[in-house]
Amino acid sequence: MKYDIVIVGSGISGMRAAIEAKELGAEVALITKSSPSANNSFMAKGGINASFGNMGDNDNIFEHSNDTLKSSMGIGNEESIRIFCEQAPAAVRELVSYGVNFTQLENGKIAQRPFGGTRFKRTVYAADETGPAIMKALHKVVKNYNIDIIKNHMAINLIVKNNIVSGVTLFDEVSQKVLVCEGKSVIIASGGFASLYKNYTSNVRDATGDAIAMGLRAGLNAMNLEFVQFHPTGLERTNFLLSEAARAEGGRLVDENGDTFVDELNTRDFVTRAIYKEMQKGKKVYLDLRDVPEDVINTKLVGIKKRVKALKKIDVSKELVPVTPIAHYTMGGIETDAIGRTSIKGLFVIGEAGDNGVNGANRLGGNSLSQGAVFGKISAYEAMKFANKMGKFNGVDYYDVMKDIQWIESLKKLTKGIDVNEFRNEMGRILFKKVGIIRTGLGLKKAYEKFEEIEKKIEKIYSEKTTTVKNILELQNSLLVSRAIAKSAQIREESRGSHFRIDFPEKDKKFEKNTLVDIGSL
Ligand code: FUM
Repeated sequence: MKYDIVIVGSGISGMRAAIEAKELGAEVALITKSSPSANNSFMAKGGINASFGNMGDNDNIFEHSNDTLKSSMGIGNEESIRIFCEQAPAAVRELVSYGVNFTQLENGKIAQRPFGGTRFKRTVYAADETGPAIMKALHKVVKNYNIDIIKNHMAINLIVKNNIVSGVTLFDEVSQKVLVCEGKSVIIASGGFASLYKNYTSNVRDATGDAIAMGLRAGLNAMNLEFVQFHPTGLERTNFLLSEAARAEGGRLVDENGDTFVDELNTRDFVTRAIYKEMQKGKKVYLDLRDVPEDVINTKLVGIKKRVKALKKIDVSKELVPVTPIAHYTMGGIETDAIGRTSIKGLFVIGEAGDNGVNGANRLGGNSLSQGAVFGKISAYEAMKFANKMGKFNGVDYYDVMKDIQWIESLKKLTKGIDVNEFRNEMGRILFKKVGIIRTGLGLKKAYEKFEEIEKKIEKIYSEKTTTVKNILELQNSLLVSRAIAKSAQIREESRGSHFRIDFPEKDKKFEKNTLVDIGSL
């Protein structure tokens, strides 16, 4: 397979990049490890930020930049934040031109709601189904453009020659073979790693940090992996996210006595820790939607109403909804410059897979979808420029491909021996308990050692269960990434944004910088 631009990942970043690249005249492959809808963009319900100022509050690009920078807690990249906030309004208008129907005001303008960490109503939405509305429209455009969507192919490794990207090796789930997909440039947009917090996450199961594992193996740095965002309101004992939209529309967070204990629309790290502290005192925390008018529930929060009824038999208009924080988004990723370029020429890593500094230590709710749209477009433009400059394919060293074939063959032998699910459960538990909302140096060290131990154990454990090569490949990626998260969190001996350490509870000026780990340090 040969394409001008190879894109791995079919969330908003990947889809938007694919559309842009095609419009620029590129031959494009859009690769996804399962189906184009199995991604977190589909799960993002509450909205997408752009400073239109449609609600009469004089919001503007400057205010959006200010809020994003403030929320990044001193380590945001001012250049990427500026580019993002400047481009977000145009990016949302483009989504409209691709067929997305956002909720409108009576005057025909796009409606906006208040999300956390700002005093402005900046979040554009389609009721509480914003992600699906965007993704369905983009998928339609991708199909109409005849872009090759390569499903059920998991990227194994980057192919690099002379520090220039040549493409990716893929594992084809159907033929069970290793394939080579060559590209003059490559955009990795395959998401983050919050699903590693299994049973404590809002993420789709596919978000296992494969991009980070691939990047590390290719010699790239992973940056700021310790910054894992816990969304304050997961529906208790489920992976269902009670979108921030619920609080934006008037929902309150209350304790067992019905008392408010936190500003519901503060930044997520702050609200999450406040909830966690209540829970550590043995108290339960609830989302209270009883005062939200019925017509608002039925028009703007109808998805939440239905799911809560189905999962918990709770009527949100009459009863309190029990909540717990869940892992939701990962700010860190493969180190890139402000627009997603890596130190490997022709390779871009965008969205949750990369870290261009746009979120720093804490992302504002609603910023991720617009970041996907903005940097998807920009990276496609830059990738096309690079592909044109290259003019030809870089070529593949088949020794590298042989190594991947041998690796996959060795995994095939393990498919009858490993209970991947059991390992993932254990990993999720360790991550949540020791690399979760509140951390300690000792806990992080123990977590790291445990992940190392599991990695060694894998080949020796025997189980009656059978599994797939893809599952084992994911598990191996996951363990490498889990160690990298624990290591990054150990390095940052301070508390900042979503990273909170009991042994270092304050922000420390000497850590006002990015944490970098590479394969040699793990
Ligand atoms: O709560 C939410 O709807 C999540 C949105 C986001 O993470 O951007």
